Amino acid sequence: DARIDFAATLTGWYEHHKRDLPWRHTRNPYFIWLSEVILQQTRVIQGRPYYERFVAAYPTVQSLADADERDLLRLWQGLGYYSRARNMHKTAKYIAGELAGRFPESYAELLKMPGIGTYTAAAIASFAFDEKVAVVDGNVYRVLARVFGIEEDITTTTAKKTFSTLANRLIQQSDNPATYNQAIMEFGAIQCTPVSPDCLLCPLQQQCRAYLTGKQRMLPVKSKK
Ligand code: ADE
Ligand code: SF4
Repeated sequence: DARIDFAATLTGWYEHHKRDLPWRHTRNPYFIWLSEVILQQTRVIQGRPYYERFVAAYPTVQSLADADERDLLRLWQGLGYYSRARNMHKTAKYIAGELAGRFPESYAELLKMPGIGTYTAAAIASFAFDEKVAVVDGNVYRVLARVFGIEEDITTTTAKKTFSTLANRLIQQSDNPATYNQAIMEFGAIQCTPVSPDCLLCPLQQQCRAYLTGKQRMLPVKSKK
């Protein structure tokens, strides 16, 4: 069963291959939130300097809440999808106004925030608070579909449920959910990549259904755009 040492293999790989990124050195939920919003539609290389400038300009959620939206949008310039910045501002104002500036500290509480969805809540809860809740993004779909040979169409509701259930079962194996979640995303980003996964140097090769059946390029299945 490929599930047996999946988490340990991934985190072992991660310790050797991870990129040194600034948001991986913090447990501050507000900083983690900033980084995840930036990285949602932006590549790491492009997003990193924005993250650095944002943390410097708005070091607390209160300072972001108090920001002039024009300054905020000016700092966001070049990143695109400006609704991300406006939504972030709204959420910061909510936290400042309704929660006295205290950032929510659990997955369930994070989900109650306007503008924080399941992915972002899982990222913050695991990275900042070590909660065992799996992040499920495009990287995770790809890695799980390939390793476990899942042929369900990832655009469907049932498939999303399948992947999320499996991902949350797998994270239970790990006693370091923060590292595990970073590891699976990093693995998808630099090892098990969309077009040319590096299967010959992959630590999961002998337990990967896609590799063993030559189906890497067919997984994950994604019908509509
Ligand atoms: N993409 C989304 N979240 C990320 C993270 N924490 N590190 C690197 N890339 C990411
Ligand atoms: Fe991905 Fe290839 Fe490794 Fe399978 S063997 S997990 S397809 S890189």
